[in-house]
Amino acid sequence: MVMVVDSADDPVKDAVSTISIPSVPKSLVSSEDEIRGKMVMFRSLTTQSLTSKALMKKTMKLSNKDIIGSGGYGTVYRLRIDDTTAFAVKRLNKGNTDRDHGFERELNAMGDIKHRNIVTLHGYYIAPQFNLLIYELMPNGSLDALLHGKSSKEKPLDWSSRCKIAVGAARGLSYLHHDCIPHIIHRDIKSSNILLDQNMEARVSDFGLATLMEPDQSHVTTIVAGTFGYLAPEYFDTGRATTKGDVYSFGVILLELLTGRRPTDESFIEGGKKLVTWVKEVVEEGREEHAIDGSLVCFPIEKVRKVFAIADKCLESDPLKRPTMAAVLKMLEQINQTNL
Ligand SMILES: Nc1ncnc2c1ncn2[C@@H]1O[C@H](COP(=O)(O)OP(=O)(O)OP(=O)(O)O)[C@@H](O)[C@H]1O
Ligand SMILES: [Mg+2]
Repeated sequence: MVMVVDSADDPVKDAVSTISIPSVPKSLVSSEDEIRGKMVMFRSLTTQSLTSKALMKKTMKLSNKDIIGSGGYGTVYRLRIDDTTAFAVKRLNKGNTDRDHGFERELNAMGDIKHRNIVTLHGYYIAPQFNLLIYELMPNGSLDALLHGKSSKEKPLDWSSRCKIAVGAARGLSYLHHDCIPHIIHRDIKSSNILLDQNMEARVSDFGLATLMEPDQSHVTTIVAGTFGYLAPEYFDTGRATTKGDVYSFGVILLELLTGRRPTDESFIEGGKKLVTWVKEVVEEGREEHAIDGSLVCFPIEKVRKVFAIADKCLESDPLKRPTMAAVLKMLEQINQTNL
């Protein structure tokens, strides 16, 4: 269990480190107003030798040169502690203070989740103007960057890496849906939220947070949390999130891995077609060989066909016809195990 650290008299305060920051100099953690913030670190092997004070000191030194990326909710910084320890710090600007309580409760719940395919949340920092989330740093970046970034042309992902990423992401999502209590619907499955660890093992990130944050106006994230191109049609229409909505988004990820194209790519929507229509036609007409990412020099066509067929099932318009993530994981594992 993660311990709550609201009060200095809390009997369980030893289980986590907490510190109040009366004021901070200009840097990532800065403000014209006087800031009173609270940092909470969850106890783990990575954090046990760190004090919140030491971590806060390093965090205050973060600046633009440490930025790794930015999204609809904020900016992500690389925080290097020493040669072996580094974190990814995400700064979220706040729009609505009423949400703070839920935000903290949710974060404490997330501190409990430890899974090989989920990015670990190590702690957080709460200040009046913004929050910081302190994650494990994923050295190989996001699937989005690997498939669509600069490196995708120089060194395209090979077929077996793509399969490993698909299985890992499915395992992480299946865990959120079926094994962790309470079950978690991700709501924002997309390639920039699938990160890669030092062994190129997929890790699902940003789960459960989508509804608690205010997206920037400029970003593609919609009012119903989620990102255009990945949203299940029924979620887009009704705003009601279900695990089957995540299954649809996972189908989009499979399609991205297979074709190397973004879901918003014009070729998918030619003639007003939807992704689901496109993939169904490819499967029915047996055109998988032509639809596969051109940068893949070598691939086992039978396996490719099977993964296309799974994507097709995940992208069904009727959520009831989509498989569960547990079933998707099983199918992907079977494909990976057979020597076709
Ligand atoms: N734990 C992490 N380790 C390494 N890089 C990360 C980590 N978390 C995020 N990033 C990088 O920072 C980028 C921005 O992440 P962020 O989650 O803020 O936005 P996003 O996922 O691209 O979009 P959105 O905010 O709509 O979910 C990611 O694309 C990823 O490359
Ligand atoms: Mg993200």
